[in-house]
Amino acid sequence: MAKQRQVFVCRECGSESVSWAGQCPQCNGWATIEEAAIPKARVARGTESPIRPLHEFDAAGAVPVPTGLDEVDRVLGGGLVPASVSLLGGEPGIGKSTLTLQMAMSVAASGGSVILVTGEEAPSQVAARAGRLGAIPDSLSVVDATDVDVICAAIESERPQLAIIDSIQTLRCPEIDSAPGSVTQVRAGANRLVEVAKRTGASVVLIGHVTKDGNLAGPRLLEHVVDTVLSFTGDRHHDLRFLRTAKHRFGPTSEVGVFEMVATGLEAVADPSVRFLADRQAGTPGSVVVATVDNQRPVLVEVQALAAPHGDRPPRLHSQGLVANRVELVSAVLRRRGGIDLWGWEVFTSAAGGADVREPGGDLGLALAVASSLLNRAVGPDTVVVGEVGLAGEVRSVAQLERRLQESFRLGFRRAVVPSSAPEGPTGLDLVRVSSLSDALRALGLEAEVPEAFAA
Ligand SMILES: Nc1ncnc2c1ncn2[C@@H]1O[C@H](COP(=O)(O)OP(=O)(O)OP(=O)(O)O)[C@@H](O)[C@H]1O
Ligand SMILES: [Mg+2]
Repeated sequence: MAKQRQVFVCRECGSESVSWAGQCPQCNGWATIEEAAIPKARVARGTESPIRPLHEFDAAGAVPVPTGLDEVDRVLGGGLVPASVSLLGGEPGIGKSTLTLQMAMSVAASGGSVILVTGEEAPSQVAARAGRLGAIPDSLSVVDATDVDVICAAIESERPQLAIIDSIQTLRCPEIDSAPGSVTQVRAGANRLVEVAKRTGASVVLIGHVTKDGNLAGPRLLEHVVDTVLSFTGDRHHDLRFLRTAKHRFGPTSEVGVFEMVATGLEAVADPSVRFLADRQAGTPGSVVVATVDNQRPVLVEVQALAAPHGDRPPRLHSQGLVANRVELVSAVLRRRGGIDLWGWEVFTSAAGGADVREPGGDLGLALAVASSLLNRAVGPDTVVVGEVGLAGEVRSVAQLERRLQESFRLGFRRAVVPSSAPEGPTGLDLVRVSSLSDALRALGLEAEVPEAFAA
């Protein structure tokens, strides 16, 4: 049984304390303090009870409000949730300010009030960029400040639908001594903005810079504080940009938004597979189309390999848009299980068109691309490949196979090399089921003599 809680009350003046004393600290009376049980209701509620039934709260308040940018809304599961804080992280120069300005202009154009805090750029620079993007709506305002007190006061008084802070690294809490961008400043600034978002109902978007390893003060240390973490990535040498959710309290983290940076800002790429395959030279040795997924979105990507002789030396491997470790793993398996020895070859591999293949479903296609280049034999132009390659040379199943096959068929592919356990594909897509890398090499006419010493 729970122990009853006690309180000590002075019978003269009625003051309460948590411990007994011989003299009342309020009225100075001697031996007036007595022990008393706390009435249950007081323990639980007090006068202003913080406890309220959950059903009293308005669930409509947590419904996402569209920004009007379709790719952004899809990634966010509908839009920005009122009173939420999102963190948009990305490398310097990748397009964070452009993307958020487009969001701001879109929300403002549909009548929502928006505050843009431009600690990083002069308002005139922001105006110039906005002018490049389109007509500037009246309800889009600028706060040229870095002082958190000033920013919070502006949000409190304006109560905007959306407030964008560009960037979290420029914020300064006056009561903290350290420089803007330091861990203490960034964390304190973000906490203040979380409070003001919850109080005013504004959706707040914080912009944060990250380096390639993601460890600059900012985004990493704020992941627990904010509701949503968005990453904006891309290859600086290509115009494609990818928006993904790393954490999302109000929606899926399985979407990816694809954009292209053009002179007038970021344009949505509604069909990334078409974009990635646009310049493909079908029928070239070393080129294989793989059916990958980015989060849960199926995307077809051309994986290319080029093997060039470089003397009697160990193989050298290079990769771009592919995970270097997987390229090494696949090359080792090719050698030991597929009889394709890379000794004396320098092999360049890449995901064409600025694509980024991070998941193992691209392994088999990569292995076949390397073999195809080395043997100088092309893979059929209407063939797509999917599957993970294990160390034993086995071809393993991967997630979302059905969606990958549907996407392949939609884009005109008629033959798919798939793991043996793959489900049926769409009618008209011929499935070539393989259980090992050597099966796949044989099926595509890429088999080489397996030296006895390496035979599996
Ligand atoms: N006039 C222009 N025409 C075409 N593209 C432009 C123009 N101005 C800027 N850009 C593109 O926008 C990119 C910079 O975008 P943006 O300023 O939004 O990036 P950011 O991530 O906010 O950068 P920072 O980290 O410096 O704040 C440039 O790299 C360039 O590709
Ligand atoms: Mg910027």
